[in-house]
Amino acid sequence: MELTKKDFIYEGKAKRLYTTEDPKYVIVEYKDSFTAFNGQKKATMSGKGVLNNNISSKLFKILADGGVESHFVKQLDDTHQLVKRVKIVPLEVIIRNITTGSLCKRLGVAEGIKLPRPLFELSYKDDALGDPFIIEDHALLFGWATKEELDKIKEISFRVNEILRDYFAKKSVVLVDFKLEFGKDADGNLMLADEISPDTCRFWDSSTGDHLDKDRFRKDLGDVLGAYEEIWKRISE
Ligand code: TMP
Ligand code: ASP
Repeated sequence: MELTKKDFIYEGKAKRLYTTEDPKYVIVEYKDSFTAFNGQKKATMSGKGVLNNNISSKLFKILADGGVESHFVKQLDDTHQLVKRVKIVPLEVIIRNITTGSLCKRLGVAEGIKLPRPLFELSYKDDALGDPFIIEDHALLFGWATKEELDKIKEISFRVNEILRDYFAKKSVVLVDFKLEFGKDADGNLMLADEISPDTCRFWDSSTGDHLDKDRFRKDLGDVLGAYEEIWKRISE
């Protein structure tokens, strides 16, 4: 059966969710909106949703080929994906290969240092609190994830990093850092969820160091959609 969009469920900053005829699946709609700094800075750019849907669909497929299970089932059209319905674990995982962003602000370490191994960080996913940085013990003690789930989240996150870092290196793009979210299906199976796009990753051009991601919006660097188009161009070839 071809599943179609039924009732609206939820609207986030960059996506909308809809039910389908099958309770195991939902439809994600990628919006044209940009937000940064916990929603304080906003913009709409026509074509952004299509680019992020295309990029995210392609990257979930690359990961599936590498043995990483995610909620992604298939791309339906320009702005829609069919995904498995999961309950999102209230954690944001950040993997960093190179120092930048909030890490440098928080710890005062220099920008652009290549780390000897990938760094695994956690935030508590809560908009009202501004997604605060946490340590694993917070997640365990407040019941946001079990030890088994955290171990699995960490293992999958490092695997995602290996696959995507190598893949992007071949496209002359440095995968600087990225954010992942995880979800659990009705049977409790943990899997990668949300999206993987220039909204959630930092991509630097290997030769020029140009920023090809949402930092162009966050820092007013201009030609935001041009950067997203460049990423899509390189990975769709
Ligand atoms: P940060 O350096 O601002 O903490 O960002 C680390 C990575 O996480 C970067 O690739 C951008 C991504 N990110 C999100 O996807 N969502 C967010 O809300 C934030 C703050 C960062
Ligand atoms: N995703 C966050 C927001 O939309 C922050 C960011 O990505 O910089 O506000």
